[in-house]
Amino acid sequence: MPSIKIVPSILSANQEKINEEIKEVEDYSDLLQVDVMDNKFVPNITPGPEYLEKLDTKVPLDIHLMVLEPSEEYVRKFIDANPKLKINNITVHVEACADVGKTLDEIRNLGVKPCIALNPKTDLEKILPYVDKVGMVLFMTVEPGFSGQKFIADVMPKIGELREMKPELDIQVDGGVNLETAPIAVKAGANVLVASSYVFKSEDKVKAIKDLMEAVQ
Ligand code: DX5
Repeated sequence: MPSIKIVPSILSANQEKINEEIKEVEDYSDLLQVDVMDNKFVPNITPGPEYLEKLDTKVPLDIHLMVLEPSEEYVRKFIDANPKLKINNITVHVEACADVGKTLDEIRNLGVKPCIALNPKTDLEKILPYVDKVGMVLFMTVEPGFSGQKFIADVMPKIGELREMKPELDIQVDGGVNLETAPIAVKAGANVLVASSYVFKSEDKVKAIKDLMEAVQ
């Protein structure tokens, strides 16, 4: 299995001082996740590409698009929004794209690693045709839309199945990740841990990340 990576999601950080919040965790984060919601694919909304304009970080970004039919033009706006940022990957949902293979190709052609996400109730079979085209597979362990929800452990067998097929693939989990659930996800085969409220609602964010790392060693 590839090395464990920690990805704080800045969704539940204090947006009024977002760059200070990011500064605190930068040295302990492999990537930072930006969640994008359209109030169509998920029942919540966040700002779009313009959100990136105010961000200031040396940590590469993991853009998680929870939006219906992200067009090439829309994806390009994220890439072009702020030349000081590094975009590591753009993740789209298999449930949200009529032709997900095409969407992944468009992202790759824009020079960014395409990744694919699936919701807790979506069958693993739905993403298998694309696994060799992506940099990472994201298993949602909550219904997407809000941070602070309870980890759905029923997703673990799917993770285990994919890990068996793809020993070297980056497998990400997102939703309800904390000190109790991260070891369960890693044991199942996940190696990229997204955590939002666990990190940003902690008194000491650095300690929270260090504790998480320790819990999965
Ligand atoms: C859920 C988002 C998650 C969310 C996770 O819709 O995709 O990234 O912020 O939040 P926590 O870690 O609080 O469950």
